[in-house]
Amino acid sequence: MGQANDSEAMWTAVDAYLAGHLIAKDEVLEAALAESEAAGLPPIQVTALQGKMLQMFARMVSARRILEVGTLGGYSTIWLARALPQNGRLVTLEAAAKHAAVARKNLERAGLLGSGNARVELREGPALETLPKLVAEGVGPFDMIFLDADKEHNAEYLQWAVRLSRVGTVIVTDNVVREGAVLDGSSDDAMVKGTRRFFEAVAAEPHVSATAIQTVSGKKYDGFALLMVE
Ligand SMILES: C[S@@+](CC[C@H](N)C(=O)[O-])C[C@H]1O[C@@H](n2cnc3c(N)ncnc32)[C@H](O)[C@@H]1O
Repeated sequence: MGQANDSEAMWTAVDAYLAGHLIAKDEVLEAALAESEAAGLPPIQVTALQGKMLQMFARMVSARRILEVGTLGGYSTIWLARALPQNGRLVTLEAAAKHAAVARKNLERAGLLGSGNARVELREGPALETLPKLVAEGVGPFDMIFLDADKEHNAEYLQWAVRLSRVGTVIVTDNVVREGAVLDGSSDDAMVKGTRRFFEAVAAEPHVSATAIQTVSGKKYDGFALLMVE
């Protein structure tokens, strides 16, 4: 246990060192975190380094349309939306009204939401209801999709994501290692079960090329799955 705490302290310190060199001070992102904390939202957003990684992925594929499932306070939304060109669009889906309200405030402060600037659209409701609506409305295809909501439904989110994709769309899924618990086939943790179902769905999906990368950070030991639609 002591060893685990030591590791976590090390990962947090290395994150701070790296962010100190690689991430510019940004009042809007810092205000978004402060606002989320003040509102009592759980601190489960991506780290700054991870947010910038997502932003760089979006830039690498010259994303013009991005879909995010799981907004929380809009922290990763801001990172991603800033990768878009002026006429780009990001749709973010959030089930919790309280989280959506905080995100709206943060996105307005970031100049990404509100009258005259419609780069971000926040849709409230369970993603299993809002995703079919996007398909029915013909929204998309998206160039990049970030799956970061409840992990129980990631296999279903993957199916919707593929329907909302084109050849070359990048799909990133967060929290797929869960401190190694993903190995436990007898786990009764719904998030572990959902993650295992997600990997089974990826393996069975013929139109997707995928890898996964384990991560350590101030957010413990976890990982991202990286998919490309073929
Ligand atoms: C890990 S947080 C998202 C963090 C955010 N992407 C970031 O990094 O800043 C997960 C979010 O998904 C939302 N959520 C949970 N179940 C959901 C569902 N069924 N549909 C849509 N959002 C859901 C939660 O309310 C929470 O705000």
